[in-house]
Parts: sequence; structure tokens; C-alpha cells
Amino acid sequence: MSLITYHHQDMIKLFLFVLILLVGGCGTERASPQPQDVKPAETEAQRLQRLWARSCALCHVDGTGGAPKIGNHADWGERLAKGREVLIRNTVEGMNDMPPLGYCMACSEDDFGAMIDLMTQGIPAVSEVLGEVKE
Ligand code: HEC
Repeated sequence: MSLITYHHQDMIKLFLFVLILLVGGCGTERASPQPQDVKPAETEAQRLQRLWARSCALCHVDGTGGAPKIGNHADWGERLAKGREVLIRNTVEGMNDMPPLGYCMACSEDDFGAMIDLMTQGIPAVSEVLGEVKE
């Protein structure tokens, strides 16, 4: 009888030992998220800028491969005359040295439209400047 009791006490000691190890382990490991780890939700503008910076910017900042540069009237004026829909389609399908989707697999057609707006903000199409030329 006393032998069984002894074993029983031993098991309790072992159990307590393991429990202390577990609790100690959890104490050093900070599993709960800290306030500084929680990022505020990204705004739509920030999302577009992030996607643009990772893809379009590779070529459209310095004109790599003949890409029209961001904000450059001479580069964009003629192209804007094609209309937004055509520009979006050419981005989706690719054009000469521009790969299809302009390297942005995560972009939707609306995103491409917004990025084109971003790169051409304030630039009038050549046809708007000259007016319709009729013969
Ligand atoms: C690898 C380089 C590269 C990347 C990345 C790139 N482009 Fe281009 N893009 C070009 C080049 C080069 C042209 C000029 C093509 C031509 O006219 O031959 C071009 C032209 C364009 C045009 C004008 C199309 C037309 O019909 O005249 C649009 C609009 C455009 N890019 C949008 C984008 C957008 C939006 C992105 C990002 C999602 C992007 N591009 C990413 C290289 C790139």
C-alpha cells in the first residue's frame, strides 16, 4: 500500500515539474501580439502605390526599353489620344518591351486604369491640345 502511495507522490512531483517547465516556457515566449506589430489597414491609394512601385516603376520611372516616363508630357501625349480603354488593354496584353500585365499579376483592370491615371495626371492628350484636325 505504501509503495503505491510513494509512486503516486512521485507522479505528482513529475507532473508539477513538467507543469513548471511548460508555464516557464510560455512565459518567455511572447505569443500575444504587441501593439506595435499591428499594422493599420492599408488605404486604397497605398495599395496602388505599393503595386505600382513593384512593377510599373521598374520601367516607367526612367523609360527602360522606351517606356513612357511618369509625368512626361512628350512621352504620354500621343498615347493618351488612344483613350484609356486601349491603354489598359495594351497593358493587360503587353506591348513590345512591356510584358503582359506590366509584371503585376495581382493587378485588376481597374488597378491598371488607376496606375495609368497616376502616371499621366494632368497631362492632356495631344489631340486635346491641338483640337480635332478635320480635312
Ligand atoms: C519591363 C518594363 C515595363 C513594365 C514593368 C511596365 N511597362 Fe508599361 N511600357 C513599357 C514599354 C517599353 C512601353 C512602350 C511600349 C511601346 O510603345 O512599344 C510601355 C507602355 C505602356 C503604356 C502605353 C501603352 C500604349 O498603348 O501606348 C501603358 C499605359 C503602360 N505601359 C502601363 C504600364 C503599367 C500600368 C504598368 C504596371 C502595372 C507597366 N506599364 C509596367 C515597359 C514596361
